[in-house]
Amino acid sequence: MKICRTVQELTDSINTVKENKQSIGLVPTMGALHNGHKSLFDRARKENDVLVCSVFVNPIQFNNQDDFKKYPRDEKKDIAFLEASGCDIAFVPDAKEVYKEEPTEHYDFGQLEQVMEGKQRPGHFNGVATIVNRLFMWTKADRGYFGEKDFQQIAIIKDLVRQKNIPIKIVACPIFRDEDGLATSSRNQRLSAKAREIAPKIHQILTKSFQMKDDLSISQIKSFVESEFKRRKEFELEYFMIVDDTTLQPILMKKEGQGVVGCVAVWLDGVRLIDIQRYY
Ligand code: PAF
Repeated sequence: MKICRTVQELTDSINTVKENKQSIGLVPTMGALHNGHKSLFDRARKENDVLVCSVFVNPIQFNNQDDFKKYPRDEKKDIAFLEASGCDIAFVPDAKEVYKEEPTEHYDFGQLEQVMEGKQRPGHFNGVATIVNRLFMWTKADRGYFGEKDFQQIAIIKDLVRQKNIPIKIVACPIFRDEDGLATSSRNQRLSAKAREIAPKIHQILTKSFQMKDDLSISQIKSFVESEFKRRKEFELEYFMIVDDTTLQPILMKKEGQGVVGCVAVWLDGVRLIDIQRYY
């Protein structure tokens, strides 16, 4: 595995891959790698000649400095994880390298960013789009792999690709869950043992609401999920929204053929966790 710390090193490696007419699959990450990332690496390796992974905790996508400081980091462990996962090129830059060129970009994702994560975390998606656009440019990847847990992020990145006409295919990958149902996330590492035991309730509540979907209206499903979180003192519900899977706008009634997803953000033990449930 080639480890690149500078954009120049990365460019040199990518140029060789391109000269050999090999396809590139990119998995961008913020490190603290886990089996959810591994599922993205496996898929990208299967579908491309060369797997490129980036590890960079992107400061400009954190609207909360405390969250940025507390974000788990272990570069040595991440590099070993990448090596064991069959990564060919690891891009592990620091912020000075990534933002040598000041991040002055301003993106407009319209209504896609006015709900859920975009509403709760001002500036978050501008920071995501800025780094992802640079990574797409530097890696010249044919395909980019993202986990569906960050459902809104995928919609934003698809829109970025459309707006800037970037020649890359965005591959949305299913959520990878621990055996007890908790969606894998780097933030899970910050949960206390007790909170980690409670955390699978998030998926359990969503699954139960899915099982009841044929007997309930959309607003009844929403009320059910909200009341399930509210009656458990350990959780502090930030939002639960049931949205159209393309426009991300809240819906009250499902239309014929419409994709419908429930998205939740909830605090547990001082850690913010998100998850989704597809209903239709
Ligand atoms: O999903 C993430 O881990 C990050 O938002 C990403 C896509 C790596 C950009 O920093």
